Amino acid sequence: MAISFRGPGPIPIDLNVNGEERTVFIEPRRTLLSVLREELGLTGAKHGCGRGQCGACTVIIDGETAYACLTLAVDCEGRSIRTIESVSHGEQLHPVQEAFIEHDGYQCGFCTPGQVVAAVSLLEHNPSPTEAEVREAMAGNVCRCGAYPNIVTAVLDAARQGTGRDPGVSGATVASGEEG
Ligand code: FES
Ligand code: FES
Repeated sequence: MAISFRGPGPIPIDLNVNGEERTVFIEPRRTLLSVLREELGLTGAKHGCGRGQCGACTVIIDGETAYACLTLAVDCEGRSIRTIESVSHGEQLHPVQEAFIEHDGYQCGFCTPGQVVAAVSLLEHNPSPTEAEVREAMAGNVCRCGAYPNIVTAVLDAARQGTGRDPGVSGATVASGEEG
């Protein structure tokens, strides 16, 4: 008798993503990052290292930043997931995004969605961070282009502008990395 070592097949998973209820049929081994990108078409969160070392895949789950590449989608049922696509309101950019543009907080832009999400989360928890607090909060987001000084400047400027609002649920922006 043949023994199959294949895992369970696709199962339905209910996810709340950017305020919308979404049901996907996936194998339980799938990461949240792969489900966001490949099942839900939300490609703002990037696949960088795929092992929790770069922050390109940063999302917000129940109000806390998380690496989507290390998170199983099945563990996200009943939780609130927010991605970079939720940060702007249509054409209206979030102040953090405006500040990244104003201060050249990116070069190639690959890390930018994760950086912006991390900054938005930081300012929701701490609207007036010190420079040291910004550096610490953003330490999990690597920028291969070395845009760190401008990123820190942008986050501090966004804090000065006041960004305490909830980022909402709609829109995609220059800083969302829609292109891939
Ligand atoms: S892709 Fe998730 S931390 Fe690098
Ligand atoms: S802007 Fe290129 S990796 Fe950060």
